[in-house]
Amino acid sequence: MSKKYYLTTPIYYPSDNLHIGHTYCTVAADCIKRYKELQGYDVFFTTGSDEHGQKIEEKANELGVSPKEYVDKIVDSIKALWKELDIDYDAFIRSTDPQHEKNVQELFQKLYDKGEIYKDEYEGYYCTPCESFWTEAQLLEGHNCPDCGRETHLQKEESYFFKLSKYGDKLLKYYEDHPEFIEPDSRKHEMVNNFLKEGLDDLSVTRSSFDWGVKVPFDDKHVVYVWIDALSCYLTAIGYGTDEEQFNKYWPADVHLVGKEIIRFHTIIWPALLMALDLPLPEKIFGHGWILFDNDKMSKSKGNVVYPEPIIKLYGVDALKYFLLREFSFGSDGSFNKEKFMNRLNSDLANDLGNLVSRSIAMIEKYNDGYVPEATEKTEFDEDLINVAVSTAQKVDIAMEHFQFSVALEEIWKFVRRCNKYIDETTPWILAKDEANKAKLDTVLYNLAESLRIISILVNPFIVKTSKVIRKSIRVKGEINWEDASKWGLLEAGTKVKLKNVLFPRLKVDEEIEKLNAETEELVKKRNAEKAKWAKKPIVVEEEKKEETSGKEEITIDDFDKLEIKVALVESVEDHPKADRLYLLNLKLGDEKRTIVSNIKDVYTKEELTGRKILVLTNLKPAKFRGIESKGMLLGAEDKDGNFSLATVYEDLPDGSVIS
Ligand code: MSP
Repeated sequence: MSKKYYLTTPIYYPSDNLHIGHTYCTVAADCIKRYKELQGYDVFFTTGSDEHGQKIEEKANELGVSPKEYVDKIVDSIKALWKELDIDYDAFIRSTDPQHEKNVQELFQKLYDKGEIYKDEYEGYYCTPCESFWTEAQLLEGHNCPDCGRETHLQKEESYFFKLSKYGDKLLKYYEDHPEFIEPDSRKHEMVNNFLKEGLDDLSVTRSSFDWGVKVPFDDKHVVYVWIDALSCYLTAIGYGTDEEQFNKYWPADVHLVGKEIIRFHTIIWPALLMALDLPLPEKIFGHGWILFDNDKMSKSKGNVVYPEPIIKLYGVDALKYFLLREFSFGSDGSFNKEKFMNRLNSDLANDLGNLVSRSIAMIEKYNDGYVPEATEKTEFDEDLINVAVSTAQKVDIAMEHFQFSVALEEIWKFVRRCNKYIDETTPWILAKDEANKAKLDTVLYNLAESLRIISILVNPFIVKTSKVIRKSIRVKGEINWEDASKWGLLEAGTKVKLKNVLFPRLKVDEEIEKLNAETEELVKKRNAEKAKWAKKPIVVEEEKKEETSGKEEITIDDFDKLEIKVALVESVEDHPKADRLYLLNLKLGDEKRTIVSNIKDVYTKEELTGRKILVLTNLKPAKFRGIESKGMLLGAEDKDGNFSLATVYEDLPDGSVIS
């Protein structure tokens, strides 16, 4: 019986704004699935949509539709995207599936019955976009969320709590005993140092301030916290509570692939919950990096979002998949750049692979009527070619063990380039001139066709469409499996080859960038028009919102009068004793002295700040940052590239002067 392999991507928030960053994880998971299947594993791959929560309720309200209508529309478009990307998932679990909701209720009841959940009152700073509560000490300056940097609001409500605090030591021990549980290592250190070492608080696991969620079975004023609901999808997708046989077959998961910003939920909350449910823990959580655009975070309001659809339309799905898996190192952040994308297509896909396939097939057609000849007489270059051919799969295996897609592809491309070199070394066009060299020429042609067979297996998990085209053009029959990539001589002589189209045409970079920009604009317009059809309220396009009021509500002069802004002299600057990224600025404002905690360490040195006069919002309610009270907020400006400058006054004024 084949060994099972269970892998998951995150359960996505429904959004009609999924960009190439979102596709990164799904493309990687699809690649792992195909790779494992070629090795004979019985793979189950879960993805899905995380459809409950305040954020969704608010978005639906904005459009004047019910949350269910909203998610139904959006989820269709997510599924369409995965189809376009040829993502071979086995379960698309929707957190609004009635069966999932029922299972979540049962799971919640079980935790309650076991005494893992209790009722209390909660007060904390809530970040709606992240669906996360934070304590004051965890917040950034201005009461902003430490994960996404956006503003939080104080929320007080009756809540049920999960006894997360009792799992801190157990988790630390688990990490120690299972050094490969969290990858890359840096993410594990982050969890240990930033959360576990400080001790865990119990976790509020219900909300009563909104309705769009799974009702708590024993108290229907409350809905289950979306993260509990979403993480449970990994269980319910394979039959937890409905199909014990399937569940027992696939659980525990072999790997949860997740983006770096949600690693905390997967490596702290999730394993603690599983421990509480007496379920085995997943083998591995892999926290991949983020894809940025020109080193900046992609966002609709910055207008720098790279969508997958225009890329697929212009260059094909394999071009996108290849680029994502080859260009970036999975564990680290990477930056998308249009030139880099086009250049990579030209060099690796058009020049290296595309050329090899078309040259090899064209030569078999030209010199042997399109039939793969038999290899009878060796050339001096064969041995090296064959060695590289049969040893590449193993190198790919080593890289794939740690999800190093980029390294795996580089190994495959070393072989592709070796084949091109083999053509240059053996010069078939010269061999063809002399009948005496016929046997040698036959060998060269056979070796090239056989190399294409091996390449078609090696690239299959990464660029499946291209793999199929290559296999079709050399007419290889039968099941494809990974083992055959390490064997030489399997291709039967006498097969007729045929290549219909050029695999990857060469691109003119500047022209293509223009085309891609135009397609992207088109897509955004089309999406807005489609949304306007089903929305029951007019849609305000992001850019229009920005132009009107810079994205914020209009205020009156009375509102402005509530602010007290003063000139402050920075007398000295210290490091925050408990937070690496924060400074303590000791300020003088006329007769008054105060300290402000600030996160401008990346921007200014202590020397640069000391002695400067800056502007401070002085009547902001004081807040504690990692135990130190901050009285007020520094003012400054940031450009669209993230360059920050502190605000100051035009002429030199004494400290304590009031801005009006
Ligand atoms: N709903 C939660 C996950 C719950 S899992 C039980 C969520 N959804 S999400 O839609 O916001 O994000 C889905 C995935 O996309 C996350 O892994 C996130 O890290 C990833 N990405 C979003 N933007 C990204 C990039 N720019 N680059 C790479 N991945 C990024 O979080």
